[in-house]
Amino acid sequence: MHPAGTMDSNPNRDDLHKIVVLNPKGGSGKTTLATNLASFFARRGPPPTLIDCDPHGYSMRWLNNRPAQRPKIYGIAAYEHCTQAGKGTELHAWPGSRHMIVDVPAALSDDQLYYQTYDANSILIPVVPSEIDIYSAAGFIANLLLVAQLDRRNHNLAIIANRTRQNTKSYRMLMRFLTSLEIPIIAELRDSQNYVYAAAYGIGIYEMPAYKVKKDVERMDPIITWIDNWRMRRLDAAASGNFEHAPSAGVLTPALGKHQH
Ligand SMILES: Nc1ncnc2c1ncn2[C@@H]1O[C@H](COP(=O)(O)OP(=O)(O)O)[C@@H](O)[C@H]1O
Ligand SMILES: [Mg+2]
Repeated sequence: MHPAGTMDSNPNRDDLHKIVVLNPKGGSGKTTLATNLASFFARRGPPPTLIDCDPHGYSMRWLNNRPAQRPKIYGIAAYEHCTQAGKGTELHAWPGSRHMIVDVPAALSDDQLYYQTYDANSILIPVVPSEIDIYSAAGFIANLLLVAQLDRRNHNLAIIANRTRQNTKSYRMLMRFLTSLEIPIIAELRDSQNYVYAAAYGIGIYEMPAYKVKKDVERMDPIITWIDNWRMRRLDAAASGNFEHAPSAGVLTPALGKHQH
């Protein structure tokens, strides 16, 4: 592991895909998602960079447990770096990495949120569809759109429903809320002990025997596809006349009582 900011690389490299996993609510599945994505991209190569913005360092703990013979992942413990904001505090990946995955758990200030997300190609928000988690996610997503000036028409923001039991009332609530925002739910991950096992051994579900993880891999695959499609998403955003930080019209959200513009 290495301190952040010591690497000789350009954070805005065109061949580097920045994936930010965000949600201030603990237990929503950020570390699970970040570590499983890191394991997937490590297998595919070249070695990705996994950046842990959590002072508890669970992603780095996972990486420390990773067996030496598994495909390489570069780890950066970057809590202090993540909570600074401003020019020059962007996160850097290792020069050889094509994917940089950032695990961002803390409730960040608006500035910090902006600096963590403005150059991200893919922003993933895992949400557990319980009533309390949905309530907190709704507020958080509203803030992301309004204050961090993220625009859902940039096609770089997606939700992952985690630990789903589909027919609950809260799950239907989550679906309604997100549909109203036009933010896609790109995957629904099952509640599965395979994630707990993988977390304990420093691996991801893609590194477990196929017969054990088949159903979970099927649920995770759409996330990989969505990430891999980022150039297409960018083209779609450009085609809809909305690229980078073009302001958006009236995004949100009667349910939260907030309006943009
Ligand atoms: N889909 C899932 N099925 C079963 N357990 C899960 C699932 N997602 C997360 N967990 C477990 O729930 C706990 C919290 O998940 P974690 O990824 O650490 O959340 P966060 O990083 O958002 O706090 C961990 O023990 C993790 O192994
Ligand atoms: Mg975590």
